[in-house]
Amino acid sequence: MTYNFFITLANASLLCLLVALLFNTRRRNQAFKRTYFDASPIPILIEDWSGVRSTLAALKAQGVADIGAFLAEHPELVLQYRKSHRFVDANEAVLRLFGATSKAQFLAIAPQLLPASLESNVRVYQTLMEGKLTAQGERVLHTLDGRVVPIIWRATLPPSGDASRILFYGFDITDQKRAQKALTDARADLAHAARVSTVGELSASIAHDVAQPLAAISVSVSAAERWLTNGQPNVDRALSTLHQIRQNAQRANDVVGRIKTFLRKAPKRNATSLDALVRDALQLIQGEAQRYDVKVHILIEPSLPTARVDEGEIKQVVINLALNAMQAMANAGTSDRQLTVAVADKPQEAVMEVQVRDNGPGIDQSIIGRIFEPFFSTKAEGMGLGLVICKSIVKSHGGELTVQSADQVGTAFRFTLPYDRGVVPN
Ligand SMILES: Nc1ncnc2c1ncn2[C@@H]1O[C@H](COP(=O)(O)OP(=O)(O)O)[C@@H](O)[C@H]1O
Ligand SMILES: [Mg+2]
Repeated sequence: MTYNFFITLANASLLCLLVALLFNTRRRNQAFKRTYFDASPIPILIEDWSGVRSTLAALKAQGVADIGAFLAEHPELVLQYRKSHRFVDANEAVLRLFGATSKAQFLAIAPQLLPASLESNVRVYQTLMEGKLTAQGERVLHTLDGRVVPIIWRATLPPSGDASRILFYGFDITDQKRAQKALTDARADLAHAARVSTVGELSASIAHDVAQPLAAISVSVSAAERWLTNGQPNVDRALSTLHQIRQNAQRANDVVGRIKTFLRKAPKRNATSLDALVRDALQLIQGEAQRYDVKVHILIEPSLPTARVDEGEIKQVVINLALNAMQAMANAGTSDRQLTVAVADKPQEAVMEVQVRDNGPGIDQSIIGRIFEPFFSTKAEGMGLGLVICKSIVKSHGGELTVQSADQVGTAFRFTLPYDRGVVPN
């Protein structure tokens, strides 16, 4: 009897202890929840995704490894899966974020406030399928008071793999997005400003580069007229003059085309043989060479590597430098005018060097420092833009344009172009 009594007492005490323990744990849990959930400044949402677990497991068993790719092919399933989701709980910060007045109100309209987002859902599905514990993504929320709030969300899944209590944390990134947008806008403004000023420069360059062939055309037209009307018409000479006219018209056209391409898109650069490029460029100004009575020499090293260039632009550089040289020699009345265009390999620097050399008057030391300035010209009709344009084209190709000149010996302009490595230089 006494024995039984003690057993009963012991059992009762044990029971009391257990009840007390449970009660205490529950109290501690509640306190924990109040501190870390309800009062958390970070919005926390608890969702139950267990309804979709078996579907995901079945998909995995069928061999679906990439749920993102699978759902992209069957987007209607996202909405279907979503029907099995439940919003379990939301803390005060969630209510504030959405502008909701009470938890009940929020939970009632949560499915509308947080409609299925393919991207976000896929991330959680993938995490569930891979048995991982966290997922993260970005999405935009539309609040009850009409605000649009970009957030980064982070989900933590219980280690047990139980998907009935997935915690979602939301971080408002409005400020970061705003700063990012300000930065992007500033960059775009800057790029636009740079473009506008380049367009300004280019307009001047059109005037400069188109003026030359037009002048050549008008000279050729007069010549052709003479060949056809002077005494015995010389059709052959007239025809060859017409050929020159056509070439110059093509040159003017190429310049205009270059501007158009520039305005449309990024510069087009291709692996190019400088040998062919230099010969083409000089071919285009053959007429001027004759007129200025200049003998042109081409010295090109054999088997040069290619350069990645905009062919039209580099041709323009060669033409500008060569015309300057011819004009300088003609204006100075140089006898025996020689123009040499040479291309040499400089393997140590992985560049090729193009040299345009004349035996003209040279450039006076007092002005040599100014020839690359915009609008600096010693010619009555000069625009003083040719060298500015050459320098900027060469620079944009990753090369350098330099000059060397000696009185009565002549002038040599040199520019480098990096080897083509299959990469567009900045
Ligand atoms: N090969 C050269 N020999 C002598 N002077 C030159 C040569 N190339 C350029 N210059 C000088 O540089 C100046 C600027 O050239 P450029 O920018 O092409 O403008 P422009 O040809 O319109 O004068 C020329 O006016 C001339 O004084
Ligand atoms: Mg010039």
